[in-house]
Amino acid sequence: MMNSPLILAIESSCDDTSAAVMANGEILSNVVATQQVHEQYGGVVPELASRAHQQHLIPVVQEALRRAKVAKTDLDAVAFTQGPGLLGSLLVGSMFAKTFALALDKPLLAVNHMRAHILAHFIQDPKPVFPFLCLTVSGGHTQLVVVRSPMDMEIIGQTIDDAAGEAFDKTAKLLGLPYPGGPHLDKLARQGNPTRFPFPVGAMPGYDFSFSGLKTSVLYFLRQQTQQNEHFVQENLADLCASIQYTIIQTLLRQLRRAAHDQQLRQIALAGGVAANSGLRLALQELAAAEGWEVFIPDFEFCTDNAAMVAMTGHFQYQAGQFTNQLISPDPRLKL
Ligand code: KG4
Ligand code: ZN
Repeated sequence: MMNSPLILAIESSCDDTSAAVMANGEILSNVVATQQVHEQYGGVVPELASRAHQQHLIPVVQEALRRAKVAKTDLDAVAFTQGPGLLGSLLVGSMFAKTFALALDKPLLAVNHMRAHILAHFIQDPKPVFPFLCLTVSGGHTQLVVVRSPMDMEIIGQTIDDAAGEAFDKTAKLLGLPYPGGPHLDKLARQGNPTRFPFPVGAMPGYDFSFSGLKTSVLYFLRQQTQQNEHFVQENLADLCASIQYTIIQTLLRQLRRAAHDQQLRQIALAGGVAANSGLRLALQELAAAEGWEVFIPDFEFCTDNAAMVAMTGHFQYQAGQFTNQLISPDPRLKL
């Protein structure tokens, strides 16, 4: 076993099939196949996700090895996402990883997907310095995490209902936007007035989040307005998008600010697919300037689901000697 390990990583927790190769902490390749099949259903269909993973995974792994110019026999370990995620999706990735590792007689690294989103910050410079505060915002999760080291993390706040990405996607759906609605809402919001329609900011004690009230209030507001004017949504689309986005951002940043103050942390990291939101990035930069924070946001490729972040986490686990045996099972509800 080497100190500069060559790791193959597999990510299959939701609807992205991904494989990456990492040599001594440096990414050599990161291949992602995003499943298009779910668009027509307006959300991820778990059964179809498992089937698509099983179709895409082997070509994706072959492509990752080819781009990295690495022979599979040169690998030192195989990392895979153990959870959280959809059980069927996780089963495909974990079964592949276990079999591959067994056939090559290499050790296995079981990676927590939420840790991987956070450790994506160590793929490229600039990297945050420990301890730092990370806001992870994706389609499935919204968490505030104190990160003390690659292996020592603590969730201090999380959503009690919908995730931030779900709040974007569900409200976008009410506006008739295609799935996933987050990026569409973001684009339209740029032309709109964020304070035109005031929606409630989910106020929670401590550092938790709540987004279900926003969804309900948007639903009732649209229902009431379209009774008076059936073209209300089309005529006010940009302002509606901007106002919804503004509310989600306020909800996130209020708790982030409170946590950073209480924990006395000035290194602030943003992770997960919602980190792509242009309004959130801008508002966070402004808040950071006012608060004297240093903000870290990975490239978009490493914010959405990808195997490079699983490889990065696997790399830290390899160095810490945290290997797993062949009896390991996926865990859809794995915590941090
Ligand atoms: O991290 P991710 O790729 O997958 C999960 O693990 O969930 O995040 C996907 C989520 C979706 O809800 C999508 O709508 C949202 O991230 N998203 C955005 C933007 N880009 C992606 N939400 C708002 N604005 C964006 N620009
Ligand atoms: Zn994710």
